[in-house]
Amino acid sequence: MAETADVPARSFPLVGRAPAKCILFGEHAVVHGGPEVLFAVDLYTQVSVRPAEHLSLNGDREPRAHHPYLGPALDRFAPVPPHLEIRTISRIPRAAGLGSSAAFVAALSAALASARGGITRAALAAECFAIERAAQGVGSPGDTSATVAGRWVSLNVGGAEPLWEISDGQRSWPVCRIADPGWSWVIGYSGIPRSTGKAVRAVSERLAAADGASLLERFRSVALRGLDALREVDPEAVGRLMEENHRLLTEVGVSHPRLEALLEAVRPACYGAKLTGAGAGGSIIALPRPGHALEAVRRLTRVGAAAFSVTVAPEGASLLEPPVRTDR
Ligand code: MEV
Repeated sequence: MAETADVPARSFPLVGRAPAKCILFGEHAVVHGGPEVLFAVDLYTQVSVRPAEHLSLNGDREPRAHHPYLGPALDRFAPVPPHLEIRTISRIPRAAGLGSSAAFVAALSAALASARGGITRAALAAECFAIERAAQGVGSPGDTSATVAGRWVSLNVGGAEPLWEISDGQRSWPVCRIADPGWSWVIGYSGIPRSTGKAVRAVSERLAAADGASLLERFRSVALRGLDALREVDPEAVGRLMEENHRLLTEVGVSHPRLEALLEAVRPACYGAKLTGAGAGGSIIALPRPGHALEAVRRLTRVGAAAFSVTVAPEGASLLEPPVRTDR
């Protein structure tokens, strides 16, 4: 494995790092086989792992009980030695629709897989999805694929550069690389945490109704037209389609009055904006007009959002050099 591993074999102590993600088109519909378009964001989670006498996560000695993603990751990689001191540093707001859990899983898994002899990016993406699914019970491999792959990816769309295909035994999601149009983006976090699992289950129920198939078809259509607009590097069209995608997400019940307030505030500086991720709280993504990114950030801050001007993360999950310890 070490010869061809994208994440090479190393020994502990190890530090993994992985980026946030932002969904531009197709969240929720992707769970049911619809196309999704998303990118890795240059906000990172870093996870350092070293052998210890007890398992701990940021000083918590009972971390399996408190952190739903940790147990499945440790079970999957069965680290040797089994007791590890794990510490995290993250710039990604938690439960904000920006993939903080996926980034934690990918950064930790990169470190654990490295200690077990290294891993290819495709295998790491499959492991991370299995871990997220074990913790969350529902969902697609979109978030974990973006944080492992970096840059831009699509799911469930043929024709582009294929990266990998991930299956949960019932459904398969092909994941492809797509080109970066090279724009800057603005994210606004509402401050309202949400549960991905709860939102996914609620939308799944909505899509099981009589008009579910036609709703899914509308999600598919907007994501495919969005992909074309990205390929043509047409920000006006991308902005319009973001708005169309947002109206669909509102129709399936995952907008929120705070998200609507953020969108209303940011729109004058933007080609378009929408909620991103599971919704029902969480964050919005906006495509600012050239020279208006700072104005978009100010507009969001004025209505109480935590706002970030972001670009695309050029690299997915990877290893960092561990810090040198000075206490011995
Ligand atoms: C969550 O970031 C995106 C959803 O589509 C769920 C998923 O794809 O796992 C809502």
